[in-house]
Amino acid sequence: MSDKKLFLSVDALKPGMITAEVIFNRFGNVLLWDNTELNESMIQHLRNMGVYTVAVYEKREQDFKTYINIPKTMTELKFKIDYQQNVEKTKDIFRKISAGRHVEVNEICPIIQSEVYHTESNRFVIDAVMQVRNADEYTYYHSLNVSLLAMVMGKWLKLSKQDVQDLTVAGILHDIGKTQVPDEILNKPGKLTDEEFEIMKRHSEYGYNIVVGIKGINERICTAILTHHEKEDGSGYPLGLTGDKIGLFAKILTVADIFDAMTASRAYRDKDTPFKVFELMQHGSFGKLDPIVLNAFLKNITNYYIGSKVRLNTGEIGEVVFMNSRDFSKPVVMVNNRYVDTMTSKTEEIVEFL
Ligand SMILES: [Fe+2]
Ligand SMILES: [Fe+2]
Repeated sequence: MSDKKLFLSVDALKPGMITAEVIFNRFGNVLLWDNTELNESMIQHLRNMGVYTVAVYEKREQDFKTYINIPKTMTELKFKIDYQQNVEKTKDIFRKISAGRHVEVNEICPIIQSEVYHTESNRFVIDAVMQVRNADEYTYYHSLNVSLLAMVMGKWLKLSKQDVQDLTVAGILHDIGKTQVPDEILNKPGKLTDEEFEIMKRHSEYGYNIVVGIKGINERICTAILTHHEKEDGSGYPLGLTGDKIGLFAKILTVADIFDAMTASRAYRDKDTPFKVFELMQHGSFGKLDPIVLNAFLKNITNYYIGSKVRLNTGEIGEVVFMNSRDFSKPVVMVNNRYVDTMTSKTEEIVEFL
């Protein structure tokens, strides 16, 4: 083994590589010692902890070569370009259906087979969902985001490859029924009247009727689209099903749908995103969302905010070091070398997400 060190981005690490330096987290705690042979779970852990670059020994030079020249920014750039192209492809599908044309399942496949669905970096997916999007094209961004989030959740819940793929298709098409809702209701800036809301609610059934007509589509996808607004307590629509009658795909879509909608509406004005969204999902949706699916989502997604900078009401700036699972909106923050638990503190709270 050569003594020469290579500095690789976490995305370029491979199991079997040997660390050449001790890897610390932002607070000086050791994550991995040097001379450690990396495995998949260690690499995933480093990624989750926000480590970007790792020094490894140049052990199998030829294996590494392809990765050395791909900076993280290039991978990210490629993801962003691909994401934007997928928004356009989603738009095409919606437009075709609006125009009364037939869509084949293989027209959806290029989207779900594209790079964005194969990224190893969930960070890219989360960043894409959090970005401020073009309001006029909300439905297309929203459909793609719900699809990406559903895919990530399917993986977190350890579903089979086929299930993850079906969920992804269901995400793209979940609001396809909105193509049958009149534009003045769909794009109305203010609150909908009761009558308008009744029409809007029909998009689940319209969507179901559209997708059952797509050749080669699986029944679970159609059912998930029909039931993506059902709620655990039976307060949802169109059937008013209770939790035990709602399928897993629909439960996952519901969580992804709510997260994306909340993130989008806050992205334009609030700086306290995403913690406010976590709080609303955890407490405001009590009894409405499946607790297992919701908890798996919050537990995993909040890990990506460790290391984020926040401002406290005292004016001090701190760094999120630990999430409280009882209240994901109130993490432990490190401020000037002291820990502030915003869940138990009576005087300190987060006022801004930087
Ligand atoms: Fe919907
Ligand atoms: Fe939706």
